[in-house]
Amino acid sequence: MTEEQNNRLVTLEEYIIQSQNRFPGATGELSQLLRDIGLAAKIISREVNKAGITNILGFDGTTNVHGESVKKLDIFADQQLISALERSKITCMVISEENDGIVELKSSGGKYIVYMDPLDGSSNIDVNVSIGSIFSIYQREPRFDPAIREEDALQPGIKQVAAGYVLYGSSTTLAYTTGLGVSLFTLDPSIGEFILSDPKVKIPSHGCIYSINEGSYNSWEPGLKKYIKYCQEEDEESGRPYSARYIGSMVADIHRTLIKGGIFIYPHSKKYPQGKLRLMYECNPLSFIIEQAGGMATDGKGRIMEIEPTSIHQHTPIFIGSPENVTHVMDFLVEYEEVAP
Ligand code: AHG
Ligand code: MN
Ligand code: MN
Repeated sequence: MTEEQNNRLVTLEEYIIQSQNRFPGATGELSQLLRDIGLAAKIISREVNKAGITNILGFDGTTNVHGESVKKLDIFADQQLISALERSKITCMVISEENDGIVELKSSGGKYIVYMDPLDGSSNIDVNVSIGSIFSIYQREPRFDPAIREEDALQPGIKQVAAGYVLYGSSTTLAYTTGLGVSLFTLDPSIGEFILSDPKVKIPSHGCIYSINEGSYNSWEPGLKKYIKYCQEEDEESGRPYSARYIGSMVADIHRTLIKGGIFIYPHSKKYPQGKLRLMYECNPLSFIIEQAGGMATDGKGRIMEIEPTSIHQHTPIFIGSPENVTHVMDFLVEYEEVAP
């Protein structure tokens, strides 16, 4: 790298501070929180990259709150993120896929609540396919009673103050939003820093890729079946047939959708009547990112981020991506809606 190129590099830390300076009243706490997550992400990235050689791959023999097998790296990522958040003393509680209840931090006076999926796509770990971490940040409503309660965390996605993800792929990428667009960073392992690669990512308004686990086709609702058949039909003018891409790590599928456009769907089915993905630490944060990039996210009926949560681990169906694709699938769902006999 030339000296001139080096001088132009903006690190995640610098960028967060520059962005904070645009808000004269900012206390710097949210910036600190984002920097802490960035640090934990670097540690997780390092561990993911050497997972094969340190024998950290594979099951640890326990299951998470959803009865799924937990891999060692899930636990490592969970611990790294929690201890990073504990260090800065501004987070009062963490809700993680890997923990049944809320995790109360020592800094219980802190004003932030953090939801996270410490490692998303963990079934892909063993086969060296991209995985990620997802986070979603809320403020605790000020209350006289200092006790930390789960209800404090039951806020709709529109109340998120920041959200983002880290993708451990062919390179490690971090994306975050505080509601002013989406910024994208790439980890340069030679200097150990996340470098700004795009300060304002925009999702294409339409894309020619659909992403869904088609193995469950037989248990979908009629409108969804018709939409997928539409995607597969030949029509040169509208770029069909679309390409099918499904990684099986939501973060990776959403990252591709953000960059290339198209649609990612995880519907309800017989096996998952409420959908498989989790509202609070998968769907809300990734919907915030996609919306901030100009996209849309719905549960098939309404906006994901307007769902009033009733439980910290609840599931939801999701249709997310380029606005034209999402609007189109919604039209199919309405047109072929099953009416109860
Ligand atoms: P996690 O590894 O955090 O449990 O999440 C896995 C999720 C999500 O990343 C992915 O989109 C989905 O499971 C894949 O599910 P299917 O195998 O049912 O398609
Ligand atoms: Mn997940
Ligand atoms: Mn997970």
